[in-house]
Amino acid sequence: MCGIIGYIGKNNPNDILINGLYNLEYRGYDSSGIAICDNKNIEIIKSIGRVSNLEEKIKKESRLNASYGIAHTRWATNGEASLKNAHPHKVGRVTIVHNGIIENADILKENLIKKGYTFNSETDSEVVAALLDSYLKELDVLVAINKLTKSLVGSYAIGIIIDNYNGIYAIRKDSPLILGIGLNEYFLASDITAIIKYTNKYILLDEGEIAFLTYNDYKIYKNKKIITKEILIADNIDTVNEKKDYSHYMLKEIMEEPIVLQKLIKKYSNSINQEKLNLSDYKEIDIVACGSAMYAGFIGQNLFEEYANIKTNVYPASEYRYKNKIYNDNTLVILISQSGETADTIAAMREVKRLGLPTLAIVNNKDSTIAREADIKILTEAGVEVAVATTKAYILQVSVLALMAYITACKKNLLKESINYNDFEKVPILLKEVIENNNQYKNIAEELYKDERCFYIGRGIDYAMCMEASLKLKEVSYIHSEAYQAGELKHGSISLIEKNTKIISIITDKKLKEKTISNIKEVEARGAKVIIVTTKDLDEFEDHLKIVVPTTNKFMNSILVIATLQLLAYYVALKRNCDIDKPRNLAKSVTVE
Ligand code: AGP
Repeated sequence: MCGIIGYIGKNNPNDILINGLYNLEYRGYDSSGIAICDNKNIEIIKSIGRVSNLEEKIKKESRLNASYGIAHTRWATNGEASLKNAHPHKVGRVTIVHNGIIENADILKENLIKKGYTFNSETDSEVVAALLDSYLKELDVLVAINKLTKSLVGSYAIGIIIDNYNGIYAIRKDSPLILGIGLNEYFLASDITAIIKYTNKYILLDEGEIAFLTYNDYKIYKNKKIITKEILIADNIDTVNEKKDYSHYMLKEIMEEPIVLQKLIKKYSNSINQEKLNLSDYKEIDIVACGSAMYAGFIGQNLFEEYANIKTNVYPASEYRYKNKIYNDNTLVILISQSGETADTIAAMREVKRLGLPTLAIVNNKDSTIAREADIKILTEAGVEVAVATTKAYILQVSVLALMAYITACKKNLLKESINYNDFEKVPILLKEVIENNNQYKNIAEELYKDERCFYIGRGIDYAMCMEASLKLKEVSYIHSEAYQAGELKHGSISLIEKNTKIISIITDKKLKEKTISNIKEVEARGAKVIIVTTKDLDEFEDHLKIVVPTTNKFMNSILVIATLQLLAYYVALKRNCDIDKPRNLAKSVTVE
């Protein structure tokens, strides 16, 4: 998704804006640009490709001794990645940067063309600039901006500079935007990571509010009145712009998993906090999410149904928001989201709330829209995740679901196995062992990296792990991998198996082990090369390339298994010289439909 940063204050804006864009790179983008002002003139410089290209261009071309400005990284939605489509867009007196999608842009554009406006880009954002410029011909600034918010349909976070009004205006609806409060300097940002180097004080701008940042003050207007809002303090965000001694954020974030898992398990070791994870009041659960968050939901589904005896359904948010929903009494809808800003998941949550059902969010970003609007929120507290491919946040999503299933099973006296809470307290140590023993993943990566396709097969909860493991490999290495229920392969897809086809088979469920082994034999009979991922107690695979993780319990096995397959995906991508932290076409949080 796009990134926005703005600055006004005592320092030159160029470095602050560029540094902010670097810290927003993880959101995914294909072009960038800045608009800087010196109270009289405005200078707009844009570039396609990396922020470093823009930085070079500014050094060469900028002539302004600027005192404020706005900047943007663009993840193409309307129109290709090009200079003319890059932001900022200036029409008449109005210069803007925009994150989101304006759904009624075409009709607005038609009307503006009738008024004599012409357009250079294919973007909906340029239409927004023109529309505001047209309103300013008859209306005062605040009235014009207010009318703009009433005219736009869709999602937007917008930074605005208006000629001869020294300052930065901002509005938002659905797309994230915060105001940074410094010492006589003010910031605009899509998220705190862009400005944490300068301030940890911020205000969340809400829909219907207009912010105006000037040199020594800021104002927020709602219904033409000035309002005051709480100034929030960002947690001690780790210095996200440092990979420390890791070559990639993805590796750094995998290595952080034991620590953040330990923190989570410790947090729920007391009965008061455990009560927050107790779902025994509910008869049915719908889990709604996207991508990896949805695949975490499939792990949860297996555990809720097997141990807590709660019927659980998992849906992609993009489907759920439109489907005809049939609810039984006592249904809980769980939304899972790392960013808390995924457009489809937000829309699904709002639809569920409209229908009057309880919503529980498992979310990483505590100030996000989903965190603020869900009835109940469980924070994963994985810290900031910069790599586009989620790792530690996913691990904590699964851990929260596993703890929910365990605590609920205990509350309902359904747990047959003798598992105590301190069994979970051992897992972070085992996880550390598993991820630090990474030569085995490098060796297996040697086997995989030249292939262009790969299958992950498993049954039950092992299939749920396959889905996430397959997505990880796809995302970072661009190998076309697919997850299949091991028993399903023979119903058609086995036609794709030929000599040397690589297959990774996950076996952690004792009950299904023999069944999966027979599927392994089926594919090996057709020439497949099978790599096995299993737990120590089930390991009898002397004649296979394999990954063996320590035996824990069914609630936590998937943590160890997935961590190994996250590393496998990482090392395969490394061998293939892929852009691991910023894979092509991907955004960290998809804030558009
Ligand atoms: C995960 O590696 C992907 N980047 C993607 O599938 C992601 O999980 C999905 O877009 C959901 O994002 P969210 O958790 O922020 O809602």
